[in-house]
Amino acid sequence: MGSELLKVGVLVSGRGSNLQAIIDASERGEIQAQVVVVVSDKGDALALKRAQKHGIEALFLNPDAYPNREAYERAMGDELERRGVELICLAGYMRVLSPYFVRRFSGRIMNIHPALLPSFPGLHGQLQALDYGVKVSGCTVHFVDEEVDHGPIIIQAVVPVLDDDDEDALSSRILEYEHKIYPRAIQLFAQGRLKVQKRRVKIEGIKPETWAAVNPPLQD
Ligand code: GRF
Repeated sequence: MGSELLKVGVLVSGRGSNLQAIIDASERGEIQAQVVVVVSDKGDALALKRAQKHGIEALFLNPDAYPNREAYERAMGDELERRGVELICLAGYMRVLSPYFVRRFSGRIMNIHPALLPSFPGLHGQLQALDYGVKVSGCTVHFVDEEVDHGPIIIQAVVPVLDDDDEDALSSRILEYEHKIYPRAIQLFAQGRLKVQKRRVKIEGIKPETWAAVNPPLQD
């Protein structure tokens, strides 16, 4: 295999469970993609250790070492390009990317968000969903544009919200599906099957789902 694998760079700030899911899917040969570098804005991110464990280059770029966000992102962009990165995946990266960076890698940046966008963007999407009282929530992988949690949606997973859920319970139910849909989105990108038409992402050669999810159920 080797050379036909899509080169992915993952930006992280913390735990890195989505990074882990992507690495695992790659190592199992489920996606035609390999993580070639992981970049963190936090030196102590667990995600960096996860990368190292798999022999993947783990780079801490300290934002404090740069005069402003654009200078920081210019350096980050250079590091990614130097390694031939073709797709950038945000996986718990806690900074808002500048228009400069988004334009530089236009159509080649993805993000995962723990809610059904456009509901509950920003921080604590799971808690926002609970507080609002929705009956279903989920997660979204989307292309990144210049607005936060806003770009064209690639794939979403729906999970129920249960009466006795707290933030942790709902977050872990959603996280299980984050770990499934992010590798799937990457694979579809690697296969060149994602066609962006305005806000809609069409997927070539896919049969649409025909279900609807209802919660609580229509019958006891
Ligand atoms: C995930 O819930 C993701 O949706 C959000 O940040 C969290 C990152 O978790 N963007 P991890 O670092 O991948 O474990």
